[in-house]
Amino acid sequence: MFSESTYIRRRQLLSNQFKSGILLFLGNIENPINFEHNPYPFRQDSTFLYFFGVQQAQLAAIMDIDEGKTIVFGNESSIDDIIWMGQLESLQDKCLKSGVREVRPYQELFSYITHAISLKREIHYLPPYQPSNKILLSQLFGINTTEIRASVPFIKAVVALRERKEELEIREIEKAVNITNDMHRMAIRMAQPGMKEYHLANAIQKFAADSECGLSYPPIVTVRGEVLHNHFRSNTLEVGKMILNDSGVETSEGYAGDITRTFPIEKTFSSVQKEIYQIVLQAFEASQSLLKPGLNYKQIHLQAATSLVEGLKDLGLMKGNTEEAVRNHSHTLFFQCGVGHMMGLDVHDMEDLGEQYVGYTADEPKDTHTFGLKSLRLGKPLQEGFVVTVEPGIYFIPELIDLWKSEKKNLDFINYDKVEEFKHFGGIRIEDNFLITASGYRLLGNGLEKTISEIENLRQS
Ligand code: GLY
Ligand code: MN
Ligand code: MN
Repeated sequence: MFSESTYIRRRQLLSNQFKSGILLFLGNIENPINFEHNPYPFRQDSTFLYFFGVQQAQLAAIMDIDEGKTIVFGNESSIDDIIWMGQLESLQDKCLKSGVREVRPYQELFSYITHAISLKREIHYLPPYQPSNKILLSQLFGINTTEIRASVPFIKAVVALRERKEELEIREIEKAVNITNDMHRMAIRMAQPGMKEYHLANAIQKFAADSECGLSYPPIVTVRGEVLHNHFRSNTLEVGKMILNDSGVETSEGYAGDITRTFPIEKTFSSVQKEIYQIVLQAFEASQSLLKPGLNYKQIHLQAATSLVEGLKDLGLMKGNTEEAVRNHSHTLFFQCGVGHMMGLDVHDMEDLGEQYVGYTADEPKDTHTFGLKSLRLGKPLQEGFVVTVEPGIYFIPELIDLWKSEKKNLDFINYDKVEEFKHFGGIRIEDNFLITASGYRLLGNGLEKTISEIENLRQS
């Protein structure tokens, strides 16, 4: 946990945004895998962590704005809990570290909310994503789960605080990035022809655990880099292919790293691999160089698309006017997703609060229909203190190439005959994490090897 004053300050800043009402925070439960006492590893809700820091299942909290009260609802260990789990730090003590002095039994949440409803008081809550919290809200408010309406002012107030990272958060994210970088170096050195993808994925999980970290998402470790969120891990590392490793650790405080490197299974890049890699690297560098406060992140995305088109034109896969090609979304044959997202306590930070509030503004809402842009999670002006990823890529998806070709789509911009030669190439992504500073940006962490020669040197070390 951070210091008591951190949580008190955060709650104070939040409560300053409200004149009256009750803010209701719901922590997470331990979700069963196949029966109740066999749960998935527990992960506290990130907003709960941000304002209270207490990592314990089945907690709720309220901030009563009118009465100036903060209460955590949760149960101390029973003798049965102690028999099975041992004596753990008391909830009272954990809450004290967060500056909360009032802890009540969990069941009292019901009478507190029922009483507030009877007084017609305004009760704000955030969008629930765990089914248990949907059921809880439905029980607390006597409504159907389809009638749950999260509070937009509450969402906006939380986003405004969490999106600009404090110094101590940046240190924590940087710690995650540095461990993640070392994890990637280990994987780049370890990969050998004949191994299975899961050998690398397992080594990554062990590296994170040995570093007293979790993983901030299931690692994507695959020779089929074009499958954007591939979790199949039984392919063999075969000479001639590249391996894409998108993985990141989560620190004990809950902060994420999110890094991708793609490298050849041989010790050196082939000439074709070099050509595609260099295009992605140039798009990465052109995009990162634009990062600064005030710039709309959508421009970073469009810069990546523009650079990719330029490179693909040089290689003969695309043709025509670059600007027009991007305007027509022709690049989405090769770059089907967004160029990045915010990162913090969640790898896709605050995605549970809704992209329209986290990544976009009311003036410029998200394009939810256009292929490519509909997958861009961030499209609003950057501010000092934001932490974002930059992650351009080129992905040859055989089924998509066949589909577009059969539809004769974007014939003015795509040389399908040439694309056929690359159809089974796979995919390359390069991803790093950046802090937006007053004057521009800072790469977080100690800089993981990225150029062709740097990667080849690591492969051979
Ligand atoms: N690791 C998922 C992503 O890069 O967004
Ligand atoms: Mn990633
Ligand atoms: Mn990412």
